[in-house]
Amino acid sequence: MTTLTDKVAIVTGGASGIGRATALLFARQGAAVVVADIDGSGASKVAEEITAEGGRAVGVETDVASEADCARAVRTAVETFGGLHVLFNNAGIIRRTTVLEISGEEWDRVMAVNVRSILFMCKHAIPAMTEGGSIVNTGSGWGLKGGGNAVSYCASKAAVVNMTRALAIDHAKAGIRVNSVNPGDTDTPMLRDEARQLSEDWAVFAADSADRPMGRAGTPDEIAQAVLFLASDAASYVTGAALVVDGGGLA
Ligand SMILES: NC(=O)c1ccc[n+]([C@@H]2O[C@H](COP(=O)([O-])OP(=O)(O)OC[C@H]3O[C@@H](n4cnc5c(N)ncnc54)[C@H](O)[C@@H]3O)[C@@H](O)[C@H]2O)c1
Repeated sequence: MTTLTDKVAIVTGGASGIGRATALLFARQGAAVVVADIDGSGASKVAEEITAEGGRAVGVETDVASEADCARAVRTAVETFGGLHVLFNNAGIIRRTTVLEISGEEWDRVMAVNVRSILFMCKHAIPAMTEGGSIVNTGSGWGLKGGGNAVSYCASKAAVVNMTRALAIDHAKAGIRVNSVNPGDTDTPMLRDEARQLSEDWAVFAADSADRPMGRAGTPDEIAQAVLFLASDAASYVTGAALVVDGGGLA
């Protein structure tokens, strides 16, 4: 069953794009949701949208690069909703540069937000998943193949994919499944920001994004549906997997 009745979930990067769509979908499927985002007011806004629909949610300002913030997000889930079953590690950033343009500080920030965040979130979330649970990490098609002008991002997302497998092995016996969802180009504020970083006209960038068998970019809702599957008991025998959701792009 792809429902999340009586489950408690944390969604990082939940204020926008894929995270927002997933937080809303999780809540509609019965989960209580902690919306964690560095954009605290955006997180609260999504939580308010959920409660306006009759769901249960709370927004928490969280910089996933900070261990203290990650610990607080987990504490909020346990103290507000009584436990934790689902963790969607989704917050991410991209810098569209080659190695020639990126500084060590910018590289470290991409790695801290995209990869080290999973260490901190899991370190605090796994002990709280006393009834077992499901962790979904957002990788990318560019974690499974290379891409141009995105060297730090490609490195970080490949790390997410393989860290997911290692986590799956380590925590299977505790009843915790860990999988990655790997979107292709998805129409979110991040994708539009990439066009800006590359000084590319959005129409040109969007046409390039559509250059895949299905002839279009994905929507946040389409990625959210795949995350829901992995998060739910419908995926009870799925762990360590890298699920690609990209309109056939990698095919
Ligand atoms: N949009 C795409 O085409 C695409 C493709 C593949 C993978 N992804 C991945 O999907 C995930 C979500 O991206 P999106 O496209 O929805 O982008 P988005 O920019 O719409 O949303 C990302 C969210 O993460 C939050 N965030 C950024 N830094 C944070 C931090 N340090 N702590 C907490 N929150 C932080 C932002 O405030 C924002 O709300 C990312 O991991 C991204 O790499 C996106």
